[in-house]
This record gives sequence, structure tokens and C-alpha cells, in this order.
Amino acid sequence: MRVTWKTTERGEITAEVAEGQSLMEAAVANDVPGVIGECGGCLSCATCHVYVAPGWLERTGRVEEFEDAMLDVTAAERRPNSRLSCQIEATPELDGLVLEVPDA
Ligand code: FES
Repeated sequence: MRVTWKTTERGEITAEVAEGQSLMEAAVANDVPGVIGECGGCLSCATCHVYVAPGWLERTGRVEEFEDAMLDVTAAERRPNSRLSCQIEATPELDGLVLEVPDA
């Protein structure tokens, strides 16, 4: 499946992502600026914060309790479409997904 990250620094970055990979891992693998993934995906850093493009939020799944708590301490402001991308798994339903990377 393909994912596009919108970044201020490098514009749009589109990459092929393997099913089952987290979208934080995919961003790091593709050098997407602004997605750090410092904690490796264990929900303790919030450096994988992204904004999900309109129309895609429901398909990215539910925000669980710990993610919800971490979204309150992100460097960039939390918005209704905020997600931690280590908690979004690449699935065929997400093919074409667009994520905006906040400016920290
Ligand atoms: Fe640390 Fe997502 S990588 S919370």
C-alpha cells in the first residue's frame, strides 16, 4: 500500500509500505522529516505525531487510552485528526492514505 506524508521541509513524500508495518516505522525508513519515533513505538515519546487527512481518520482505527493520553503531550498542538503513527498499522484499506506531519 502507498502512503503520502506532507511535510514542510521536503514537500510530499510517497512511499510503498509493507502490510503490518507501523506508519511510524515506515516514516523513519523513508526519512520523513518530523517523524522521529524515539521510543520505538511503545507509546512513550509522542514524536510520531501526525494529522490524518480528511476522510481517512475512521479507517486508521480507534485511539486507545494510552495513545489518547500521549496525544495530550505532543510538541505540536493536538487536533481532532491527531494520531500517533506508531499506533497505525499498514493495511490494504489504508492504501492512498495521506498524513500531514506537524511542524514541531
Ligand atoms: Fe513513541 Fe509513537 S514512536 S509514541
